Amino acid sequence: MDRNDPELDLSAYWMPFTANREFKADPRLLISAAGMYYTDTHGKQILDGTAGLWCVNAGHGQPAVVKAIQDMAGQLDFAPSFNMGHPAPFELARRLADFSGRRFSHAFFTGSGSEAVDTALKMALAYHRVRGDGARTRLIGRERGYHGVGFGGISVGGMVNNRKYFGPMLGGVDHLPSTHLPDRNLFSRGQPAHGDYLADELERIVALHDASTIAAVIVEPVAGSTGVLVPPKGYLERLRAICDKYGILLIFDEVITGFGRLGAPFATQYFGVEPDLITCAKGLTNGAVPMGAVLTKPHLYETFMSAPGAPASGIELFHGYTYSGHPLACAAAIATLKVYAEQRLIENAAALAPYWEEGLQSLRGLPHVVDLRNLGLIAGIELASRPGKPGARAIDAFKSAFDKGLMVRYTGDTLAMSPPLIIEKKHIDQIFATLADVLRTLN
Ligand SMILES: Cc1ncc(COP(=O)(O)O)c(C=O)c1O
Repeated sequence: MDRNDPELDLSAYWMPFTANREFKADPRLLISAAGMYYTDTHGKQILDGTAGLWCVNAGHGQPAVVKAIQDMAGQLDFAPSFNMGHPAPFELARRLADFSGRRFSHAFFTGSGSEAVDTALKMALAYHRVRGDGARTRLIGRERGYHGVGFGGISVGGMVNNRKYFGPMLGGVDHLPSTHLPDRNLFSRGQPAHGDYLADELERIVALHDASTIAAVIVEPVAGSTGVLVPPKGYLERLRAICDKYGILLIFDEVITGFGRLGAPFATQYFGVEPDLITCAKGLTNGAVPMGAVLTKPHLYETFMSAPGAPASGIELFHGYTYSGHPLACAAAIATLKVYAEQRLIENAAALAPYWEEGLQSLRGLPHVVDLRNLGLIAGIELASRPGKPGARAIDAFKSAFDKGLMVRYTGDTLAMSPPLIIEKKHIDQIFATLADVLRTLN
């Protein structure tokens, strides 16, 4: 059967995070993409309001990225990266250090965001142990957090369906409360005014467990997958200060906020708050080849390199993946970083963020809309749930938008948008006009 055939046999593929039976009865199959648009098997053009899955930040089919992948596939299909190397990951790591404004000096490569999260958590634990502070084994996440689907990520994550089926997960994990305060912050534009004090819950957790047992706190600077939760003003600053006070490492999971989503290279620059480690993925390669990374501050790397009693010939961190620093992924990432710079895409995101916000706010007052949230080129539209059927209205809205030629995402009863950074005003107009149409006809 032809892979472009709309009658393709769908039965054998177990789809991720998908209602398989429902999808297979009424599939949405994409066969090509260029710039801001997908094309489906019926030849319909669909405006990409979500950069694929928060990852195609430079838009689809960037010629330089395509060529870099093709060239590398012909030159070096694979090279082992344990006690062996090839030039590309070294070059990419240096470029990432530059991209971070030289605030993050080293990069460890993984195959995905989930692997980057597990890597960062393991690095935090090992860091304290290498320093002789090995009682620091607790990891602190946050309610409603999403950190991928590895056991580390679901342990520190806080989305119930991602956790409840999978047993006790990692021990020694605790959670901060979510930053969502619907009673006080509805219809905030950008960062909400109220809730910085929620960071002080870390003081409560420290009082309960003692700082000497806590290795790291991990948060998304803006929580995306849980429905776009923007941190209240002052919250991240306060979290950083409490971590500093107690010698706790702070990890920013920038898998969606990295690579220009907020109009800055990373959220750390946007907020002016620096974690010790950054996890990233997605926009790193423009989604074209799977890859994640952990970026670290100099003291992390140096601690491992200068561990007392460790011989220079010894492995400093017993961790890595077959596909760490894969040639095709590195080629895609290097080309993507150049595209961001040459096409000034991060500047474009910053310049269009106010127009994006206005477009979102134009939906205020339309049927079912109970909250609107945004930052940079991210937007969330929370809909009133149908009685007894949480999530059902957002699913219908998602399907209706797709039928009208717009791709959005849904989580619970929130619609989320995160378009490619190549977006223009006319696309923003199309996104919000389509959504207005969807909301007016939704029941
Ligand atoms: C904040 C965050 N962390 C981690 C991940 C997991 O990344 P991946 O799906 O590449 O494993 C995601 C994915 O959406 C994410 O949004």
